[in-house]
Amino acid sequence: MDWERQWAGRLKRVQPSPIMDLIKVLGQRQAINFASGLPDPDGFPLEGLREGAAAVLDMDWRAALQYGEAEGYRPLREWVAKDLSARGVPTRADQVLITSGSQQAIDLVGRALLQPGDIVLTENPSYLAALQVFASFEATVRAIATDGEGIDVESAAAYLRQPGVKLLYLMPNHQNPSGISLAPERRRPILEAAKRAGVPVLADEAYLHLRYDPGVPEPLACADPEAPVITVGTFSKTIAPGLRVAHMAGPPDFMSRMGLLKQITDLHANSYTQRLVHRFAASGEYPAHVASLCVAFRKKRDCFLDALERRLGGQATWTRPAGGMFLLLWLPAGRSASALLPRALDHGVAYVPGAAFFPGGDGENTMRLNFLSPALAEIEDGVARLARAIAG
Ligand SMILES: Cc1ncc(COP(=O)(O)O)c(C=O)c1O
Repeated sequence: MDWERQWAGRLKRVQPSPIMDLIKVLGQRQAINFASGLPDPDGFPLEGLREGAAAVLDMDWRAALQYGEAEGYRPLREWVAKDLSARGVPTRADQVLITSGSQQAIDLVGRALLQPGDIVLTENPSYLAALQVFASFEATVRAIATDGEGIDVESAAAYLRQPGVKLLYLMPNHQNPSGISLAPERRRPILEAAKRAGVPVLADEAYLHLRYDPGVPEPLACADPEAPVITVGTFSKTIAPGLRVAHMAGPPDFMSRMGLLKQITDLHANSYTQRLVHRFAASGEYPAHVASLCVAFRKKRDCFLDALERRLGGQATWTRPAGGMFLLLWLPAGRSASALLPRALDHGVAYVPGAAFFPGGDGENTMRLNFLSPALAEIEDGVARLARAIAG
């Protein structure tokens, strides 16, 4: 069979992720890992989950092992609605859909809204796996000029006025891959422009809770409750990604169709892990757990930034994220982070070359560094290795 002729057009548009290729290489090499996209397993609340897993099976096994509602486990939807409302996004439980990871939420939004040739606006850089979703729906991605405070308001407004724009995808807080956040004063004007243009905004809040600097980060939707914002959140970064429990919430007339789409896709999210996550999230332990993650992660971020300053100051520039997992580093113009990678691996350190995150095509001299995946004790050595590789 000639599969190249058989593939649907949507599959032909999707490029394989360089991260997946790198994970294969890393499996065969000894390297300090700044490349991974994985949360630190030391942060998984193992004891709480062990106790919860037994309790769910003891007390609720019939429902936990049974098919469930497409929209998700009602108490978890209620919990999410309450949590979003407390964060300034008034939400009712029937506006919440539980998804199998926030990756699926992005895919469902794409399926609901995108047709071949539609335009999706994103930050530059943006989250690679979301870009792959948009490509899979044969949409065209246009990258909006982005600086250390997020997307530029004027450019965003100009793009939003163009015909064919169907979606604006943003990571408003501690984004992947740069860790930067959309400045508070830019939020309302951007949402107003989206509202005027009739373009929905997909706000991916995956890293909302991982905040290390003072201040409580707000979901984007807070900035204008009337704006057509679909808020996506996940328990992958604060509990554990392997459970695959996440959520989306949005305007009632949009969300009313999402249950059907979810049902067509995989019937519903895992009945058992939804209950497990709900038990842990609703327990008094959850806020303390997230706070303790932030304390440990702040230490790693500070250590990483300090090592970069001492070892690479003057030779490269980088973002200084207030939260999240990643920072983005720029080599001097003209250098290639992809070309440098084999040498970095020879020096025993791995990163992800940034080019694939830049729909604007300008990221060849960038690399994404995960400051949480190495152990605290490995950071200094890893940055020293990186500096040696860059020095040549
Ligand atoms: C910005 C962003 N959105 C969504 C996801 C997907 O996470 P999950 O599907 O585990 O919720 C990730 C994972 O790394 C991410 O970085």
